[in-house]
Amino acid sequence: MRPMGFITSDALAETGYVVLDDHPADVDPAEWLGLEYVRWRSSGITRFAPLTSYAGDVDCNGFWNHTPPRTDKDGVWVSSQVAISPTLQQWALEPGAGVGRCRVIELQPNEYADAVYNLHQDDNNRLNDDGTGWVVRAFFNLTDDTESMLILRSDRFDPATEVRLSLHAGSRIVVDTQRFWHAVWHRGTAPRYALIASWTSGPELDAYIAAHHGDPHPQTVPLDPQVVDAAQVELHRRIEERRKAFEAQGIVMEPPTPLYG
Ligand SMILES: [Fe+2]
Repeated sequence: MRPMGFITSDALAETGYVVLDDHPADVDPAEWLGLEYVRWRSSGITRFAPLTSYAGDVDCNGFWNHTPPRTDKDGVWVSSQVAISPTLQQWALEPGAGVGRCRVIELQPNEYADAVYNLHQDDNNRLNDDGTGWVVRAFFNLTDDTESMLILRSDRFDPATEVRLSLHAGSRIVVDTQRFWHAVWHRGTAPRYALIASWTSGPELDAYIAAHHGDPHPQTVPLDPQVVDAAQVELHRRIEERRKAFEAQGIVMEPPTPLYG
């Protein structure tokens, strides 16, 4: 879905993503290790520590799944969490753009083929009103995952559309994650931690991206084409395996849904 009729960020108009200057990485790891984490949906062993939620509880659910439903804006800060992570809260608030969902992700190491299979689009703009700001996502890497990368594809099944962005400590990336299929290939041995914030597009976000020299053409991490090809084969094998498993239960497999919402 394209954000027709919405206020969008000029900085994201060209490619749909920007890499900013590194954020100050000297934050105390206690700010993320001390948080309360919960498992969420079908994401397996991945856990999240919400800093905001629909009503200020430790809750990862989409704001539209509550009563009354609302779009991914006006997140309520979870007081027990932000008491532990004041710097992370400050980073999310720094642009002055609206903050919707905001959480720290804990991701376990995986393989490139896992990341390709996990590619998904976020559901950032459900119930969002025409004429208001389009919701995009910011990723602040907390751990120094120099071998890991954020994978973006405009076409889920076409690796020629793939961009791979480095996730060293301090990396800061803003992406229209409803437009791009995305997932992380985490090559570490310890979990990766990153702050993820939903931000509302508008002049405040544009000014922040400009102030931090947002680059719409960052360098993509090179990868052996044979690794890419093998992962494509594995992607289709897993999809077919899943389709057959559903078929055996008399269920027609639905189109892919966001894993992490
Ligand atoms: Fe996502």
